[in-house]
Amino acid sequence: MPTVALYAGSFDPITNGHTDLIRRSLGFVDRLVVAVAVNVAKQPLFNTDERVAMIGQALADETRVEVKSFQGLLVNFARANGVRMIIRGLRAVSDFEYEYQMALMNRHLAPEMETVFMIPSLDTTHVSSSLVREIARYGGDVSSLVHPAVVAALKSKYTTDA
Ligand code: COA
Repeated sequence: MPTVALYAGSFDPITNGHTDLIRRSLGFVDRLVVAVAVNVAKQPLFNTDERVAMIGQALADETRVEVKSFQGLLVNFARANGVRMIIRGLRAVSDFEYEYQMALMNRHLAPEMETVFMIPSLDTTHVSSSLVREIARYGGDVSSLVHPAVVAALKSKYTTDA
């Protein structure tokens, strides 16, 4: 049986931190479903299709990655896709409490679901989507933090919306 895992988030937009984690996870899973959350409490800059498309561009070389969007509970989406492993990244100690609670709650909802925590590369631990958006909004250089397709998308978003 191939090992399939799920990596979910809002990916608004996908950063090099996310891709680092995705590529690392492919070291021990056969296939990874990257799941873009539609209904997050956050007001996204990019719509769902845009977020899905950027992930596809950032990971165009990874044939074992499938990008999908989902609404509702993560565990329901995982079950519908036959997935029992949820990948999460722990960038810093501050991530731990929230992640711990979410992992236990997901287990409460779906006891067969296992959350696997990974440590991203040190040079991406300070990266987050909101910081990337903020830097781009004020014309800062984000080219070392995100894929070139994301740099272009941010540029056109902020130029269009200005
Ligand atoms: N590298 C860089 N940035 C990272 C990262 C990494 N390895 N891991 C996380 N981040 C960033 C994200 O970009 C995000 O940045 P932002 O707050 O600036 O947007 C931040 O860290 C938080 O990430 P995350 O915890 O993954 O939140 P999220 O909003 O991206 O995704 C869901 C959260 C969608 C996975 C979660 O809300 C969910 O499962 N929702 C479905 C509903 C559900 O099932 N709820 C019950 C859960 S018990």
